[in-house]
Amino acid sequence: APLEPFAVTIDFATGALVPDPDVLDRRLADLDGYFVADIDDPGVGAYTVHEVRVPPTGNNLLSSTTVLAPGKVGDEYFFTKGHFHAIRDRAEIYLTLSGEGLLVMALEDGRTVTKEMRPGIANYVPGHWAHRSVNTGTTPLVFYAVYIGDAGYDYATIAERGFPVIVVEGEEGPEVRPNPRYVA
Ligand code: 6PG
Ligand code: NI
Repeated sequence: APLEPFAVTIDFATGALVPDPDVLDRRLADLDGYFVADIDDPGVGAYTVHEVRVPPTGNNLLSSTTVLAPGKVGDEYFFTKGHFHAIRDRAEIYLTLSGEGLLVMALEDGRTVTKEMRPGIANYVPGHWAHRSVNTGTTPLVFYAVYIGDAGYDYATIAERGFPVIVVEGEEGPEVRPNPRYVA
Protein backbone atom coordinates (compact mmCIF):
# COMPACT_ATOMS: atom_id res chain seq x y z
CA ALA A 1 0.00 0.00 0.00
CA PRO A 2 1.20 3.57 -0.57
CA LEU A 3 2.83 5.31 2.38
CA GLU A 4 0.96 8.21 3.94
CA PRO A 5 2.28 11.63 2.94
CA PHE A 6 4.06 13.39 5.78
CA ALA A 7 6.30 16.35 6.58
CA VAL A 8 9.18 16.95 8.94
CA THR A 9 10.39 20.29 10.26
CA ILE A 10 14.10 21.02 9.97
CA ASP A 11 15.93 23.53 12.13
CA PHE A 12 18.51 24.92 9.71
CA ALA A 13 20.85 26.07 12.50
CA THR A 14 20.92 22.88 14.56
CA GLY A 15 19.85 20.19 12.08
CA ALA A 16 17.23 18.95 14.55
CA LEU A 17 14.12 17.38 13.04
CA VAL A 18 10.55 17.26 14.33
CA PRO A 19 9.84 14.40 14.74
CA ASP A 20 13.42 13.17 15.33
CA PRO A 21 13.29 9.42 16.10
CA ASP A 22 16.67 8.24 14.79
CA VAL A 23 19.72 10.20 15.94
CA LEU A 24 23.27 8.87 15.56
CA ASP A 25 26.20 10.46 17.44
CA ARG A 26 29.80 10.08 16.25
CA ARG A 27 32.71 10.99 18.50
CA LEU A 28 36.35 11.38 17.55
CA ALA A 29 36.79 7.84 18.95
CA ASP A 30 34.69 6.60 16.02
CA LEU A 31 37.21 8.30 13.67
CA ASP A 32 40.23 6.58 15.20
CA GLY A 33 42.76 5.96 12.41
CA TYR A 34 41.06 8.35 9.98
CA PHE A 35 43.22 11.43 10.60
CA VAL A 36 46.93 11.78 9.88
CA ALA A 37 47.60 13.04 13.42
CA ASP A 38 46.65 11.26 16.64
CA ILE A 39 43.38 12.20 18.36
CA ASP A 40 43.90 14.00 21.69
CA ASP A 41 40.46 13.54 23.21
CA PRO A 42 38.43 10.62 21.80
CA GLY A 43 35.38 11.76 23.81
CA VAL A 44 34.89 14.95 21.80
CA GLY A 45 31.72 14.95 19.67
CA ALA A 46 32.36 15.10 15.91
CA TYR A 47 28.96 14.83 14.22
CA THR A 48 25.33 13.89 14.63
CA VAL A 49 23.02 12.43 11.97
CA HIS A 50 19.24 12.88 12.25
CA GLU A 51 17.36 10.50 9.98
CA VAL A 52 13.88 10.80 8.55
CA ARG A 53 12.27 7.39 9.14
CA VAL A 54 11.28 5.79 5.82
CA PRO A 55 11.66 2.14 4.68
CA PRO A 56 15.13 1.81 3.04
CA THR A 57 13.90 0.48 -0.29
CA GLY A 58 14.77 1.41 -3.85
CA ASN A 59 11.40 3.07 -4.44
CA ASN A 60 11.84 5.49 -1.52
CA LEU A 61 14.00 8.54 -0.85
CA LEU A 62 15.84 8.48 2.44
CA SER A 63 16.95 11.77 3.95
CA SER A 64 18.84 13.06 6.95
CA THR A 65 20.54 16.09 8.39
CA THR A 66 24.19 15.97 9.45
CA VAL A 67 25.59 18.39 12.03
CA LEU A 68 29.39 18.41 11.84
CA ALA A 69 31.24 20.23 14.62
CA PRO A 70 34.04 22.71 13.91
CA GLY A 71 37.49 21.63 15.02
CA LYS A 72 40.76 20.07 13.93
CA VAL A 73 42.88 17.00 14.59
CA GLY A 74 46.42 18.20 13.94
CA ASP A 75 46.04 20.44 10.85
CA GLU A 76 43.04 18.53 9.49
CA TYR A 77 39.55 19.89 9.89
CA PHE A 78 36.89 17.59 11.38
CA PHE A 79 35.19 15.44 8.77
CA THR A 80 32.64 12.65 8.40
CA LYS A 81 33.95 9.09 7.96
CA GLY A 82 32.96 9.12 4.32
CA HIS A 83 31.70 6.17 2.34
CA PHE A 84 30.82 4.68 -0.98
CA HIS A 85 27.25 3.51 -1.23
CA ALA A 86 27.01 -0.29 -0.92
CA ILE A 87 25.11 -0.21 -4.21
CA ARG A 88 27.78 1.81 -5.96
CA ASP A 89 25.71 3.66 -8.52
CA ARG A 90 23.29 5.22 -6.02
CA ALA A 91 23.31 9.02 -6.19
CA GLU A 92 22.74 11.61 -3.49
CA ILE A 93 22.06 15.35 -3.06
CA TYR A 94 23.42 17.52 -0.23
CA LEU A 95 21.78 20.88 0.51
CA THR A 96 23.83 22.94 2.95
CA LEU A 97 21.71 24.71 5.57
CA SER A 98 24.34 26.45 7.70
CA GLY A 99 28.09 26.74 8.18
CA GLU A 100 30.79 26.27 5.59
CA GLY A 101 32.86 23.39 4.40
CA LEU A 102 34.12 21.27 1.57
CA LEU A 103 32.59 18.16 0.06
CA VAL A 104 35.38 15.79 -0.97
CA MET A 105 34.41 13.13 -3.50
CA ALA A 106 36.58 10.30 -4.83
CA LEU A 107 36.29 7.50 -7.35
CA GLU A 108 37.80 4.09 -6.61
CA ASP A 109 40.57 4.84 -9.13
CA GLY A 110 41.71 7.76 -6.92
CA ARG A 111 40.31 10.70 -8.91
CA THR A 112 38.92 13.40 -6.63
CA VAL A 113 36.61 16.40 -6.96
CA THR A 114 36.15 18.91 -4.12
CA LYS A 115 33.20 21.29 -3.98
CA GLU A 116 32.30 24.15 -1.69
CA MET A 117 29.49 23.71 0.85
CA ARG A 118 27.65 26.75 2.13
CA PRO A 119 24.01 27.67 2.75
CA GLY A 120 22.01 27.53 -0.45
CA ILE A 121 24.38 25.26 -2.36
CA ALA A 122 22.93 21.91 -3.46
CA ASN A 123 25.73 19.45 -4.27
CA TYR A 124 24.99 16.53 -6.56
CA VAL A 125 26.98 13.38 -5.74
CA PRO A 126 26.62 10.97 -8.66
CA GLY A 127 26.85 7.23 -8.13
CA HIS A 128 30.32 5.69 -7.73
CA TRP A 129 31.75 8.72 -5.88
CA ALA A 130 32.74 8.24 -2.24
CA HIS A 131 31.80 11.36 -0.28
CA ARG A 132 33.09 13.07 2.87
CA SER A 133 32.06 16.43 4.34
CA VAL A 134 34.70 18.64 5.95
CA ASN A 135 33.89 21.56 8.27
CA THR A 136 36.34 24.33 7.38
CA GLY A 137 34.47 26.97 9.42
CA THR A 138 34.08 27.95 13.05
CA THR A 139 30.39 27.03 13.43
CA PRO A 140 28.57 23.71 12.90
CA LEU A 141 28.26 22.62 9.26
CA VAL A 142 24.65 21.52 8.77
CA PHE A 143 23.36 19.90 5.60
CA TYR A 144 20.34 17.91 4.42
CA ALA A 145 21.05 14.79 2.38
CA VAL A 146 18.58 12.96 0.13
CA TYR A 147 19.46 9.56 -1.31
CA ILE A 148 17.96 6.52 -2.95
CA GLY A 149 16.57 4.28 -0.23
CA ASP A 150 18.48 1.08 -0.96
CA ALA A 151 21.89 2.80 -1.35
CA GLY A 152 23.40 1.35 1.84
CA TYR A 153 26.92 2.06 3.11
CA ASP A 154 30.39 0.74 2.36
CA TYR A 155 32.58 2.26 5.08
CA ALA A 156 35.30 -0.42 4.92
CA THR A 157 36.90 0.77 1.68
CA ILE A 158 37.52 4.27 3.06
CA ALA A 159 38.50 2.95 6.50
CA GLU A 160 41.18 0.81 4.82
CA ARG A 161 42.40 3.12 2.04
CA GLY A 162 41.53 6.63 3.22
CA PHE A 163 40.66 9.45 0.80
CA PRO A 164 43.27 10.47 -1.78
CA VAL A 165 43.26 14.03 -0.38
CA ILE A 166 43.08 15.69 3.04
CA VAL A 167 41.85 19.19 3.93
CA VAL A 168 44.15 21.14 6.25
CA GLU A 169 44.32 24.64 7.65
CA GLY A 170 46.98 26.53 5.68
CA GLU A 171 48.37 30.06 5.93
CA GLU A 172 45.48 31.51 3.93
CA GLY A 173 42.70 29.12 4.83
CA PRO A 174 41.72 25.59 3.87
CA GLU A 175 44.09 23.69 1.57
CA VAL A 176 43.45 20.41 -0.19
CA ARG A 177 46.59 18.26 -0.19
CA PRO A 178 47.50 14.72 -1.16
CA ASN A 179 46.90 12.28 1.70
CA PRO A 180 50.28 10.82 2.67
CA ARG A 181 48.49 7.77 4.05
CA TYR A 182 46.25 7.03 1.05
CA VAL A 183 46.44 3.39 -0.10
CA ALA A 184 46.24 3.65 -3.90
C1 6PG B 1 24.19 9.11 3.49
C2 6PG B 1 24.74 10.50 3.49
C3 6PG B 1 24.92 11.22 4.84
C4 6PG B 1 26.07 10.66 5.68
C5 6PG B 1 26.35 11.53 6.92
C6 6PG B 1 27.46 10.98 7.82
O1 6PG B 1 24.50 8.34 2.55
O2 6PG B 1 23.40 8.75 4.38
O3 6PG B 1 25.92 10.53 2.73
O4 6PG B 1 23.73 11.17 5.55
O5 6PG B 1 25.80 9.34 6.07
O6 6PG B 1 26.73 12.82 6.50
O7 6PG B 1 28.60 10.64 7.10
P1 6PG B 1 29.17 9.13 7.16
O8 6PG B 1 28.01 8.23 6.84
O9 6PG B 1 30.24 9.07 6.13
O10 6PG B 1 29.65 8.89 8.55
NI1 NI C 1 25.99 8.82 1.19
